[in-house]
Amino acid sequence: MADLLTAPKGTYDILPEQQPLRRWVIAIAEDVFTRYGYRRIDTPMFEDTRLFLRGIGEATDIVRKEMYTFTDLGGRSITLRPEGTAPVARAYVEHGMHTLPQPVKLYYHSPMFRYESPQAGRYRQHYQLGVEAFGSSAPELDAEVIGLLATLYRELGLRQVELRLNSMGCKECRPGYSKALRSYLSQNFDGLCAECRERTRLNPLRTFDCKVEGCRGLLADAPRLPDYLCAPCRGHHERVKACLELQELQYVDDHTLVRGLDYYTRTTFEFQCSLLGAQSGIGGGGRYDDLVATIGGPPVPGVGFGTGVERILLALERSGVQGPRPASPVVYLVALAESARSAVFRLAHELRQAGICADLDYVERSPKGQMKQAGRSGARYAFILGEEELATGVLTVRDLTTGEEQRLDAAAAGKLARAAARQASTAFTE
Ligand code: HAM
Repeated sequence: MADLLTAPKGTYDILPEQQPLRRWVIAIAEDVFTRYGYRRIDTPMFEDTRLFLRGIGEATDIVRKEMYTFTDLGGRSITLRPEGTAPVARAYVEHGMHTLPQPVKLYYHSPMFRYESPQAGRYRQHYQLGVEAFGSSAPELDAEVIGLLATLYRELGLRQVELRLNSMGCKECRPGYSKALRSYLSQNFDGLCAECRERTRLNPLRTFDCKVEGCRGLLADAPRLPDYLCAPCRGHHERVKACLELQELQYVDDHTLVRGLDYYTRTTFEFQCSLLGAQSGIGGGGRYDDLVATIGGPPVPGVGFGTGVERILLALERSGVQGPRPASPVVYLVALAESARSAVFRLAHELRQAGICADLDYVERSPKGQMKQAGRSGARYAFILGEEELATGVLTVRDLTTGEEQRLDAAAAGKLARAAARQASTAFTE
């Protein structure tokens, strides 16, 4: 039964004290996304399994080993969303967004589910912040999407983040590369792990996902993707790089960056953070010009990225970024006498109605205990009510940062609290 008291393996609870930093990250992300013209979309947590089989690709690790797939009571095969791009592409078509002025720019903040072996920065349920821009094949848009993610990391104060960049070619030039790679791998078949032998058959580019030393060694001498790009793909890639330079973004060329999803065409990119250890990929994405058509929609190009919230939080912690102070009440109300409890309760109600964060005792603490709790709560002021205050209608207001006390009527005390609340809210957004 003890197992019932533990969150499922690879999942975690987000505790109240962890919420402020997380919400701060999400608020900054939403601010940056909005500044670049993206609008929020939410899709269901599960989809028809076929969407992911077709969209992500049957040879990928995600589809082969990591999906939470089951049959529902109606006999349909459904899958908990392992990633956000295919569902957003599905929604784009379903809601006729291809008839709107293009590009259509969408963002999301959603949980994703992958049956992976859990470790620091790798979970079975993780959250992604992501964007998808549909309806333009302009290389400037690839560069903008990359620049957006770099801006987000910069505004969060993340350090030691490096951008890696590649082009995967298109349906014209990639088959030539796949063929050359398959032929090379077939000649070196004996040196490959069992999985890479299977990958050679299904999709040889997936061998770049392999972590086995022997396979990596072999791949170092394999044909190189950049040597097979057609002229339009080369031109696109050069323009993306030029536009990264216009944004003063540095990058490292990495021709092995195939990423773990089959839908990519042309640009792929990944930001890696050396503070993260083994799970260094903090965010990545690329262009997917054939995805919408592959899932049955019109031939609409797209480009986007996803970045893991947990990895951002881990990197922030390791970058020494504290984020906002946790919200604390502005006023803590103290009842010196039993008879003051109703007045305290009423005053807390009035303060909250006026938009001021107020708290009070609910576990019958003594006046001394309440004062101690007022200090612990982080409140700026204690409003103290006893027999005398009830009789005169004048409160004792203690400034908990200086220890100074003054006696004020309710209106003056409210004014003080409002000013402190304003100060606290600007401290939060700074
Ligand atoms: P992805 O690289 O599979 O791409 O995931 C994006 C990000 O999600 C990763 O860089 C990482 O930060 C985080 N992430 C992935 N798996 C886990 C996990 N098990 N635990 C914690 N964090 C994780 C995609 O999913 C694409 N849909 C991105 C994209 C959008 N491409 C184009 N548009």
